[in-house]
Amino acid sequence: MAVFWSKASRGFRLMENLDFINCFELNDSEKDDLLVGLQSNDQKKLNSKYLYDKKGSELFDKITKLKEYYPTKKELEILENKTKEIKNILPSNSVVIEFGSGSNNKIKKFLKSLESPEEYIPIDISKEFLFKNAKELATNFPKMKITAICADFNNTEKLSRILKEKKSKIGFFPGSTIGNFCPDEAKNLLLKFSKILGENNYLVVGVDLKKDIKVIEQAYNDSNGVTAEFNKNILNGVNNLYGSGFDEKNFKHRAFFNNEMDRIEMHLVSKKKQHIKIRNKKIIIEDGESIHTENSYKYSIKKFSDLVNKSGYEIKKVLTDKNSFFSIFLLRVSTL
Ligand code: AVJ
Repeated sequence: MAVFWSKASRGFRLMENLDFINCFELNDSEKDDLLVGLQSNDQKKLNSKYLYDKKGSELFDKITKLKEYYPTKKELEILENKTKEIKNILPSNSVVIEFGSGSNNKIKKFLKSLESPEEYIPIDISKEFLFKNAKELATNFPKMKITAICADFNNTEKLSRILKEKKSKIGFFPGSTIGNFCPDEAKNLLLKFSKILGENNYLVVGVDLKKDIKVIEQAYNDSNGVTAEFNKNILNGVNNLYGSGFDEKNFKHRAFFNNEMDRIEMHLVSKKKQHIKIRNKKIIIEDGESIHTENSYKYSIKKFSDLVNKSGYEIKKVLTDKNSFFSIFLLRVSTL
């Protein structure tokens, strides 16, 4: 599972022979969860992780470049403009651990803000992207050690064992991925990270902020229909897993801001009554009925501050862009 790369070795070398985890290799209980979500008599749902297969990851990358999709641009703006603050607060000679590494744009800027980072450890379930990005980054930072770990970051115990002997650690969790989880789950995840990182180490989290609802809704209803394509692609993932016969032509994309819950919800709305067979179970989807595919929570600085304080962190600094569209929290794992 752990893979080591250095400029000197000019390639990947297996350090530990742990098995690679494939995103879409599920155990039976996970498969059941998925079925239960589709059989529900009230809101049908699919876990948003099925959005991020290879095609989904490519489509998401395309989304980040759309004019309407502000989060990535705003976060990059912060990383670009607040290098001094980052350098002043975060320790030098640290090991940077990225939880769920996407594209390299953010980590490149972040590493440049740090004082002589010692090592970079991206953790991701998608092996292909992980290795491609690690290799590319190595050419940008030839002196830095890079260790890519293909794993699910929910595997807290295994990861903390691997990372135990590293001294000064900085966790990096950008992109408002935290917004995919409901506040309770987000709290649990932050707790897991604090265990993996250990006392007095740091965590850097990107969080999308509440703002004019029109701005938020446009970001998830782009004029090029890329978000619609991204949303519908979840059905291909499910078809591949189960051999089910979902046809994306029978659904339309819907994304709206749920004011009570402070979140964007993505749904696939059925254009007609449909009968779907999946693992020998029949699923009926009514005309106009929807499948809920993703949540993206938007926080106020106050609300996210309360959440991290309850999850075992001390806030060192909150950085924002000039419009306060997005925020980056610099946190320290408090002594328990
Ligand atoms: C990758 C979860 C941060 O919630 O903004 C983008 C995913 N979904 N457009 C987000 C997404 C639709 C994105 N995250």
